[in-house]
Amino acid sequence: MGKTGVFYGPAKGSVAKVAIVIAQQLGEDSTDLTAIKDCDASSLNGYEKLIFGISTLGRSNWDSEHEDDDWDVFFTHLNQVNWKNKRVAIYGLGDQINYPGHFVDAIGWLYQRLKALNVDVYGAVPDEGYQYTDSEAIVDGKFMGLPLDEDNEPEKTHPRIKNWLNDLKQEGF
Ligand SMILES: Cc1cc2nc3c(=O)[nH]c(=O)nc-3n(C[C@H](O)[C@H](O)[C@H](O)COP(=O)(O)O)c2cc1C
Repeated sequence: MGKTGVFYGPAKGSVAKVAIVIAQQLGEDSTDLTAIKDCDASSLNGYEKLIFGISTLGRSNWDSEHEDDDWDVFFTHLNQVNWKNKRVAIYGLGDQINYPGHFVDAIGWLYQRLKALNVDVYGAVPDEGYQYTDSEAIVDGKFMGLPLDEDNEPEKTHPRIKNWLNDLKQEGF
């Protein structure tokens, strides 16, 4: 079995903190951590199993035209990856209390980009136990990745990751 590549952005903050927890739970010997700002298509091509970590900072930031936006650059890499035999799972950081109508939207935006490339995305999560009113991450009643809320429910992060990694294993990720 090859290593799992965890690619996350931004490079500092809750997304990065969670990347370390995921690596600890998966086993540090079988996991590589890379900030998306430090990667290119060839880094992604080196893995069959990829986990992408993202946070939601609002549509206006996402749609910004800044040339140096790390995720915009990352998307150009995604177009150059050979997706055959690759599996992807997504986790996303958000805040249910302050952004209940846009909770972890970025999971959904990333999922749609991957879907457009016919990428197999694993690890959908039922929405039970989350307080939110709307989210672009929901498809057919499930989040298209693991939502985590370090701002309001940090104590749930570790168990949520543990359950999710178990579910991924069951799915054959
Ligand atoms: C300006 C700003 C906008 C945000 N917008 C959203 C949002 O639309 N939806 C959401 O779920 N969380 C939103 N959040 C919360 C962040 O996603 C959350 O704090 C996350 O843990 C940040 O992770 P990071 O530090 O790794 O970027 C926002 C936070 C900030 C500061």
